[in-house]
Amino acid sequence: MASTIQEISGQDTASLGELYKQVRARTMEIVAPLEIEDYVVQTAEFMSPPRWHIGHTSWFFETVLQARKPGYRVYSEDFLYYFNSYYEGFGQRIERPKRGTKSRPTVKETVAYRNHIDEQILSLLELEHSEHEEPTLRALVRLGLEHEMQHQELLVYDIKHLLCDQFDAPIKPLPKPGPKPEGMAQIEGGLVELGFKFSPARKHRFAFDNEKPAHQVFLNDYLIDKAPVSNGEYLEFIKSGGYQNFRWWFSEGWEAVNREKWSAPLYWELHDGEWMIRDFSGLHTVADRKDDPVSHVSYFEASAFAKWADKRLPTEAEWEKAACYDARRKVKSEFPWGDTAPNSGNTNLFENGFWSVAPIGAFPDGANAYGCEQMIGDVWEWTTSDYVPYPGFHSEFDEYNDKWFVNQKVLRGGSFATPQLHIRATYRNFFHAHERWMTSGFRLAQI
Ligand SMILES: [Fe+2]
Repeated sequence: MASTIQEISGQDTASLGELYKQVRARTMEIVAPLEIEDYVVQTAEFMSPPRWHIGHTSWFFETVLQARKPGYRVYSEDFLYYFNSYYEGFGQRIERPKRGTKSRPTVKETVAYRNHIDEQILSLLELEHSEHEEPTLRALVRLGLEHEMQHQELLVYDIKHLLCDQFDAPIKPLPKPGPKPEGMAQIEGGLVELGFKFSPARKHRFAFDNEKPAHQVFLNDYLIDKAPVSNGEYLEFIKSGGYQNFRWWFSEGWEAVNREKWSAPLYWELHDGEWMIRDFSGLHTVADRKDDPVSHVSYFEASAFAKWADKRLPTEAEWEKAACYDARRKVKSEFPWGDTAPNSGNTNLFENGFWSVAPIGAFPDGANAYGCEQMIGDVWEWTTSDYVPYPGFHSEFDEYNDKWFVNQKVLRGGSFATPQLHIRATYRNFFHAHERWMTSGFRLAQI
């Protein structure tokens, strides 16, 4: 099936209304190959039915309408209940594990709701635009679009869990890799700036509150892998009995291995003694995919591998410095390759249309000043850092990022399911240590 995914304009060129239309259309492009029965099934407590995502992203914009549009009347109290995710401030909601227990609202009703919200938001933006610039409204709509892009990525994870290779994804062929970057980059320590800093040259750039404020941290000298850990390397860990030996695992990780009966990453299957990986394009031998970044591993698994390899995972400050600092020029940029937006030639993000990680070495143009590749795109990379507020943190939206600052780990860099517009080197994603249905991998550090 040919790719039908539309490109989204750069944030510097598109008006907010235009951007709104493009991002909202993308969500519906992602779900377009689904059959009607697929939309309402929940395959695990941690995933959500696709119907819920397309309604919930509209619900988020309806909260904007309730706050900003005088006289706005709620579309449906039932929808507010079903499509609220976790926001205490917006009333009662269905429990997450029960999202797949209801066949109503129907998909048709959910799409009608979505269209209604679109009309309302676009007319509000036009109204505000013609009268005066409304910074709060514009900031809320932009946040809603970033939220929608997060759910686009979650949709990819959830559709994979629901259907995997039964989904008729519009997959483009993977690129041929160039030479694999070998070894580790040596990074000098010292004071380093962590986090997003506003600059007038990048005034349209969006960053979440959890990336701010930029602040100084001290790092010792360290080494970091030039490439993510591959399936082939991870297979060696499995073959050496890594999942049977408690000594590599944190206590909680070892409990998870035994409780969940883990013996390999999620989506790995053992067929006649050979490990295979199932993805959107089918079932592949690990041998065929040995040079791809390993994905769908939990923090526990990444940490166990690191201990087995006699290395460690990086902190998020180490990761960020490696990703976007140029020691020779003494500048920090937004991406490993500089300040220009990602494109499908230098990184594997959603617009590439692979619906998969790409082989290591496929994006030499995305290398940073230290020679590290694929830091943006392909797999979110686990770090040892706890997801906590930066010193001086100020919440810009209640219950969005601020209420999750406990018991989760930071991941960096985006994945093949992340939209280009949505990622930057300072972006902090976060998941619990046991989670692995997202596209999570890692690279190692040392010293
Ligand atoms: Fe959400």
